[in-house]
Amino acid sequence: MGDRENTLEAVAAVAAAEAAAHAPVVEIEGLWSVFHNAGVDVVIHKDLDLVVPRGEVLTIVGGSGSGKTVLLRQILGLNTPARGTVTVLGKPAERLGAHGASSRVGMLFQHGALFSAFTVLDNIAFALRELKCLPDDLIRDAALLKLQMVGLEVRHAHKMPAELSGGMIKRVALARALIMDPPLLLLDEPTAGLDPDSSDGFCTLLRSLHRELGLTVVMVTHDLDTLFELSTRVAVVADQRIIVNAPPREVVAFPHPFIHDFFLGERGQRAMELLREYPFTV
Ligand SMILES: Nc1ncnc2c1ncn2[C@@H]1O[C@H](COP(=O)(O)OP(=O)(O)OP(=O)(O)O)[C@@H](O)[C@H]1O
Ligand SMILES: [Mg+2]
Repeated sequence: MGDRENTLEAVAAVAAAEAAAHAPVVEIEGLWSVFHNAGVDVVIHKDLDLVVPRGEVLTIVGGSGSGKTVLLRQILGLNTPARGTVTVLGKPAERLGAHGASSRVGMLFQHGALFSAFTVLDNIAFALRELKCLPDDLIRDAALLKLQMVGLEVRHAHKMPAELSGGMIKRVALARALIMDPPLLLLDEPTAGLDPDSSDGFCTLLRSLHRELGLTVVMVTHDLDTLFELSTRVAVVADQRIIVNAPPREVVAFPHPFIHDFFLGERGQRAMELLREYPFTV
């Protein structure tokens, strides 16, 4: 091969790497999610499109039962599209283990309790142990590192889940989701059920992890404080699709009855103050 061909090949490789670096982390096109219930098809998503660019913290909001958790499960590959495509990091979303940790996507489930019979350390290490290819001491060190990364002291490593507070359980679940260093993190109601102090602490942790690890985050939350503190974009699920996907300020101004009630109701006013105080950007 001549010099010219070599140069062209190198240029093409650089261009491909650049394109991959700027490609969206999640691309959903024309998604239909359908469940068969007692002989009837129930359509949850109909022709839904969603793009999540790299490095964003995108928050999905929508009414209860509108299909937010199902959408996260589609991204994880736990649900199968009836029609349409779900692409994650350039590949079709594939089925992952139920523990919410893979090398591509980490997941904090909405009702995701820890394994109650396992210690904190064993919960965090679960996915690495499943790989059955690393020595025990390495797995232990990796899990301890993650424990500290989520702001917990090593002395908690041998506690059982029943001995932890709600905030600590969320942190351990987060450490478990991050054990394989996935570039994409999915969070389903991460601050639900936490008292305001624990909720603030968890938001601060998520914000610093997002910055330090360069994560892309897709989060579902009803909590407006959490939403305004963390989101760089907000996507609203209504009428079985994403009706708007934009920075928080633009979404708040989007004319739709759900958005009006969600953001401009009484509790929304207080959270809007937060938007003015903490205009969070990537
Ligand atoms: N495996 C399933 N089989 C049948 N129906 C399902 C299944 N999973 C979800 N659904 C239905 O899909 C709809 C959307 O559920 P989903 O859990 O995504 O709602 P959500 O927006 O997350 O609500 P919430 O805010 O209450 O968590 C609901 O009507 C639910 O009953
Ligand atoms: Mg849900």
